[in-house]
Amino acid sequence: MKLLKSVVIMGIVGACVAAIGGLAFIYSGVYPMGADVPHTKAVYWALDTMRERSIATRTKDIQVPNLDDPKMLLAGGQDYNEMCAGCHLKPGKTTSDLNAGLYPQPPNLALPHRMDLDAKQRAARQFWYIKHGIKASGMPAWGSSHTDERIWEMVAFLQKMPTMSPEVYQIVTAPPEGESGMAGMSHDGM
Ligand code: HEC
Repeated sequence: MKLLKSVVIMGIVGACVAAIGGLAFIYSGVYPMGADVPHTKAVYWALDTMRERSIATRTKDIQVPNLDDPKMLLAGGQDYNEMCAGCHLKPGKTTSDLNAGLYPQPPNLALPHRMDLDAKQRAARQFWYIKHGIKASGMPAWGSSHTDERIWEMVAFLQKMPTMSPEVYQIVTAPPEGESGMAGMSHDGM
C-alpha cells in the first residue's frame, strides 16, 4: 500500500514537472516557427502522427464514386490548373515560388503519390484533403466554396495526371472554346 502511494505521488510530481517544463518551453520563445527552419524530429513526429491518425479516422467511411468518367476528368482538370497547380505543380513544372517556400512543402501531385495506399484509400484521402484542408499548412479547405461533386472531379483528374505529358495536360486543362482563360493565365506564374 505504502509503495503504491509513493508511486502515485511520484507520478503526480512527474506530470506536474513535465507540464511546467512544457509551458516554460512554449512561453520561452525558443521554438523556431519560421517556415524556413524544419520542425525538430519530435515535433514533426507528433504533428505527422496526429494528422495521419486524424485523417485515417475521418476517411474510413467515405464512399468513392466511379472516377473514370471523361467529363469529370475535364472539369477537374480546369479547376486543378486554376486553383492548385501553383502549389502542387503540373507535368513539366517541377518547382514554383509557392511550392519552394511553403512548409510543409506541397507534394508534387503530377508524380505518383502515396502509392502505399490502395486506389480507393488514396482517392478518399485526396477528397478529404481537398474538402477540409490542413490547419497551418497552406492547404485550403475548398469544401466551403465547392460542392462534393466538384471536388470528386478534381480527385478524378488527380488519378490521371501522373500519366500525362505536358502537352496532354495543357489540352485537358484548357478552358472550353469561348471561355477566354483569364483565370487559367493568372495562376500559371504562382
Ligand atoms: C497555397 C498552396 C496550396 C494550394 C493552392 C493547394 N494546396 Fe493542396 N496542399 C498544400 C500543402 C502545403 C499540402 C501538404 C499539407 C500536409 O502536409 O498535410 C497539401 C496537400 C494536399 C493533398 C494531400 C496529398 C497527400 O498527402 O495525399 C492533396 C490531395 C491536395 N493538397 C490537393 C490540392 C488541390 C486539388 C488543390 C486545388 C483545389 C490544392 N491542393 C491547393 C498546399 C496547397
